[in-house]
Amino acid sequence: MYILAIETSCDETSVAVVKDGVEVLSNIVATQIEEHRLYGGVVPEIASRRHCESIEAVTREAIEVAKISLSEIEAIAVTHTPGLIGALLVGVNFAKGLAMSLDVPIIPTHHIRSHIAANYIAYPDLKPPFLCLVISGGHTNIIEVLDYTEYKIIGSTRDDAVGEAYDKAGRAMGYQYPAGVEIDKNAQLGDKTAYKLPRPKVDGSEFDMSFSGLKTAVLNLIHNSTQKGVEVNKTDLSASFQATICDILKDRVFKVLEKTGYTKLAVAGGVSANSGIRAMLEQECDNRGVQLFIPPLCYCGDNAAMVGAQAYHEFKQGNIADLTLNAVASTPVE
Ligand code: KG4
Ligand code: ZN
Repeated sequence: MYILAIETSCDETSVAVVKDGVEVLSNIVATQIEEHRLYGGVVPEIASRRHCESIEAVTREAIEVAKISLSEIEAIAVTHTPGLIGALLVGVNFAKGLAMSLDVPIIPTHHIRSHIAANYIAYPDLKPPFLCLVISGGHTNIIEVLDYTEYKIIGSTRDDAVGEAYDKAGRAMGYQYPAGVEIDKNAQLGDKTAYKLPRPKVDGSEFDMSFSGLKTAVLNLIHNSTQKGVEVNKTDLSASFQATICDILKDRVFKVLEKTGYTKLAVAGGVSANSGIRAMLEQECDNRGVQLFIPPLCYCGDNAAMVGAQAYHEFKQGNIADLTLNAVASTPVE
């Protein structure tokens, strides 16, 4: 089954053609990062405008690269939730128009479900049930993937997502948006024991996480040092920050694995590109006999191939929308 998939939930306009949920024939990603960098973060209004401007060309390119004709497309998949509402609306409305003109069904797809499905592309043998650590700019969850469209959240952040903490702490350190990748690069050169940062626990919930206290600790440390005229070593602070995030994730993920007995762990979302988190999970999973699945870097960030992968399973479950489909800013993955 040939699915044309559309992703416009944040600052990447992406269109892909995916066959049977696993074979990626094309996956075009037009990123807007350079423009948002000028403002230190994603400006929703600009994101919507850029999606409008580029979606048609990106779609044409996806069709061309896939070497397929539009008449062979059997369904249009689109991220309809969660995300920036104006950005989502561009994808949803484009999908509706295309589906109507081709007379094919629309498959509404949840962005976080799609991030999880990136693993099916990279590891075609991976099948639910398994445990998944979702770490993105807007979400941080430990999720039981019971089936392709059935999920149970076991642990979540109570405040900031990991990617958000990276970006905000990184901005205070003077890195450009998106600062996560800059912290990651510098962390590899620094001393992770140089700064002591908090590893907050959530009262009454051993699997939940909190990252806003850690972010604030970085902000306060920089502020206090500046006031005293002491220079902060950005490289060491990056290494200390990354090591703290790794410790928090390690503690929660392996507690959940022990409690639930899963022997397969997948990772999903933009932050799964992080070298420190990848190395920590590889080592810990190896030590404990847990099979680890992490998408290659090209499927970690936002892309439409993962939407096509998830949409295949949504379609099989009968999840089809009509032309009343709307975008929704926030919807739980369950
Ligand atoms: O999944 P994603 O592309 O968008 C959302 O669905 O939110 O994730 C984007 C997030 C940003 O916060 C970005 O800073 C972070 O992923 N990110 C990283 C790295 N690469 C991207 N964070 C830490 N280390 C990285 N190497
Ligand atoms: Zn995402």
